[in-house]
Amino acid sequence: MIPPGDLSSPIGFVLGVDLLHIFPLEGATFLCPVDVTDPRTSQRILELLPGGRADVILSDMAPNATGVRDLDHDRLISLCLSLLGMTPDILHPGGTFLCKTWAGSQSRQLQRRLTEEFQRVRLIKPEASRKESSEVYFLATQYRGKKGAVKQ
Ligand SMILES: C[S@@+](CC[C@H](N)C(=O)[O-])C[C@H]1O[C@@H](n2cnc3c(N)ncnc32)[C@H](O)[C@@H]1O
Ligand SMILES: *[C@@H]1O[C@H](CO)[C@@H](O)[C@H](O)[C@H]1NC(C)=O
Repeated sequence: MIPPGDLSSPIGFVLGVDLLHIFPLEGATFLCPVDVTDPRTSQRILELLPGGRADVILSDMAPNATGVRDLDHDRLISLCLSLLGMTPDILHPGGTFLCKTWAGSQSRQLQRRLTEEFQRVRLIKPEASRKESSEVYFLATQYRGKKGAVKQ
């Protein structure tokens, strides 16, 4: 893993996790088909991460949309919360978390949870996200670290 801010070793490790089978891609390792909401998943991720911790957790996960806006929104927020539930196990203190959301009534709750765990939380619409798509991303940086853990 790249220690945060260490530009002299620009080689990272990319681990992709998906419910679907992902075709091999050079430079990346995949854990699939694997469900992020399965309580065993963080252990499986840990086994693959060099150094046992990630610097960044980046999620473009989404449920299959039903078209019922509130239901789709709730499902996506609970996916984000599942992933957030894993951060104490897999993310380095100081690390970054990015997750996709569809705006809705629970966005505030997710934002509040993120603010408890990260020093800075922003809502962003990356250039790569289509204008007509309602997706927006929470970008949370400077992870405070596992509660009760002794920082190294
Ligand atoms: C919008 S697509 C992401 C596409 C990806 N960024 C790409 O460029 O190929 C959403 C993905 O989230 C995955 N997904 C949804 N729920 C999941 C879960 N519980 N665990 C793991 N992956 C999940 C879906 O299988 C789907 O591939
Ligand atoms: C979406 O639907 C496809 C096809 O039915 C299925 O394989 C996949 O697991 C579904 N994804 C989610 C996130 O439920």
